[in-house]
Amino acid sequence: MKILVTGGLGFIGSHTVVELQNEGFEVVIIDNCSNSSPEVLQGITKITGKEPIFEQFDLREKSKVQDFFKKHQDISGVIHFAASKAVGESVENPLLYYENNLSTLIYLLQELSGKTSANFIFSSSCTVYGQADELPITENAPVKVAESPYGNTKQIGEEIIRDTCNVSKNLNAISLRYFNPIGAHPSAEIGELPIGVPQNLVPYITQTAIGLREQLSVFGDDYPTSDGTCIRDYIHVVDLAKAHVVALQRLISSNNTNTNYEVFNVGTGTGSTVLEVIQSFEKVSNQKLNYKIVGRREGDVTAAFANTQKANEELGWKAKSTLDDSLGSAWKWEQKVRS
Ligand code: UFG
Repeated sequence: MKILVTGGLGFIGSHTVVELQNEGFEVVIIDNCSNSSPEVLQGITKITGKEPIFEQFDLREKSKVQDFFKKHQDISGVIHFAASKAVGESVENPLLYYENNLSTLIYLLQELSGKTSANFIFSSSCTVYGQADELPITENAPVKVAESPYGNTKQIGEEIIRDTCNVSKNLNAISLRYFNPIGAHPSAEIGELPIGVPQNLVPYITQTAIGLREQLSVFGDDYPTSDGTCIRDYIHVVDLAKAHVVALQRLISSNNTNTNYEVFNVGTGTGSTVLEVIQSFEKVSNQKLNYKIVGRREGDVTAAFANTQKANEELGWKAKSTLDDSLGSAWKWEQKVRS
């Protein structure tokens, strides 16, 4: 069965391609390499023994999207990762984010809604919940006003899919709301490669430990949490990748006949503070991390972690890796990349 993975050379995309190929799917990747590299193909091929088909173009080029689907009429499912994801950049350049993240989604759905049957998985984010009123967060928690254009593209993206599924009954779709993906493939053949200064905690930690950054700034220790730092649900990227495979299998086998659009949280269900992440990293890397506490970062919520019951029960999926496993794999990857 042939699956299109857009953004398949990116961090979560590449790990998902590996898991799809391990399950016997044939994968076609579209990636514009704006935040990734064709070299990632080698890592995927090394792990799986199979090189996915790769087409390099930008999904904003509608005619290319149309040509692609004419050429590949036998696509059984689409997993759509390709998007811009830097929160700060989205505040600086909102139109770029709305164009990148929404026009591409629309062009894909235009192609799929015309098919007799189509399966679609969307990369959404726990950012849609903002600071949830209740923890852990269930899928029924209200969607809050987005903190950034990036977050807004995820909310609008979900609405576009829901509205399209309402009228296109041939289209089956799932939005996966990721909590905080971290780590790398245990082989260290693929992992996260942030361009420039990392915005996210774990790549900042590993780059500090390897000597690329001088010091980690911990944003705020005056939050109402056990140690004053923010709480997040850090999920190993391989566990997250596997969630895509089971979600796709659910769509393909039409396991749910009640609705053609569903939303699932994908997290571990456990929240960790920033200081707990640092402690775990120090343990698995066997070294002290240079960090200091600074003021809060604008837009950060105090705490977010998932209630994963729906994914556990309906997808038959559960995150397996511990925080130590995830950070150990991130550290192994960082060491390999810089060696
Ligand atoms: N943090 C630091 N120092 C850093 C980087 C992060 O202390 O250098 C802290 C943050 O304040 C936060 C935690 O580490 O408490 C995690 O921060 P990340 O930037 O790694 O992740 P976020 O929780 O901010 O990101 C999530 C989602 C994104 C989404 C964002 C919206 O993963 O997809 O929320 O705010 F865009």
